[in-house]
Amino acid sequence: MSNSFDRHRRLRKTAAIRDMIRETHLRVEDLMYPLYVQHGQNVREEIRSMPGVYHLSIDEYRREIQEISELGIRSIILFGIPAHKDDQSSEAYAEAGIVQQAVRAAREENPDLVIATDVCLCQYNPAGHCGIVHDGIIENDSSLELIAKTALSHAQAGADIVAPSDMMDGRIAKIRETLDAKGYQDTILLSYAVKYASAFYGPFREAAHSAPAFGDRKTYQMDPANYREALREAASDLAEGADMLMVKPAMAYLDVVRTLRDRYDVPIAAYNVSGEYAMIKAAAERGWIDEQAIVTETLTGIKRAGADIILTYSAKDVANWMKQGKF
Ligand code: PBG
Repeated sequence: MSNSFDRHRRLRKTAAIRDMIRETHLRVEDLMYPLYVQHGQNVREEIRSMPGVYHLSIDEYRREIQEISELGIRSIILFGIPAHKDDQSSEAYAEAGIVQQAVRAAREENPDLVIATDVCLCQYNPAGHCGIVHDGIIENDSSLELIAKTALSHAQAGADIVAPSDMMDGRIAKIRETLDAKGYQDTILLSYAVKYASAFYGPFREAAHSAPAFGDRKTYQMDPANYREALREAASDLAEGADMLMVKPAMAYLDVVRTLRDRYDVPIAAYNVSGEYAMIKAAAERGWIDEQAIVTETLTGIKRAGADIILTYSAKDVANWMKQGKF
């Protein structure tokens, strides 16, 4: 028969051939593991909609750091659940705040761990918004000072990476200027540059007790329908001094990940968020899907789209599977 068509199946003939030509390889080093820390002792409370993910007090969290380090996980991102909320979000930047304590504790448990912190105000004020609220308005410019103060306090505690997730305009420039002025030129700025107003954050808001008390986040987080706007957000944050850019959520926004990868030379992160994790866990519990296969396919897809770093609650599962040679 003539060669009137291409023989793609030649390269799929055996497992060895497929392994040889595989283009994308997921590594444990690609994964950043989110952790939720709170005050108290002996607290290890599973989050209802996120099986396998816990609220941890510092003592339990120290054990967790040891466990993930043994599994080969190299980086974490910290979310704090404060003891008190107030209008000034004061626990967000307190020296003895929960995230600041957690940064120091992680450094003690594993000096080589890459420690990132989520920088935001929403968990820390009663309005549950990412900026300061005055007369029902989420103010931009007056929020920048407190957001920068929060980032600085994380850097002072020893964070390697600060990751602002508030979506206020101008925060990257303000944080960079504040860090540099205090001698933290080497603290890395990972911007949640492209963060959509997404229903996929539902389980997180329950976990972090950070659901907005009124309204929604649509005046600062992006409309899921917009792509060109994502490019404008990314360009602004790079011009303001971001070292790395994040897209969030991941699965429904891989077109944006791909474009940022092609357009910019900085590392790109994608956040495989709480709702994405919850959906897979729920379906797996019912026996409707094969969890390992789905997680592997999902994370490989995110990497294939161009992400260098994937923030995922599945990091421990993946590291375990890799350890058992099941990956
Ligand atoms: C706080 C913040 C959120 C997430 C990370 N940082 C929630 C939100 O913006 O409402 C979501 C994380 C997740 O869903 O896994 N600003």
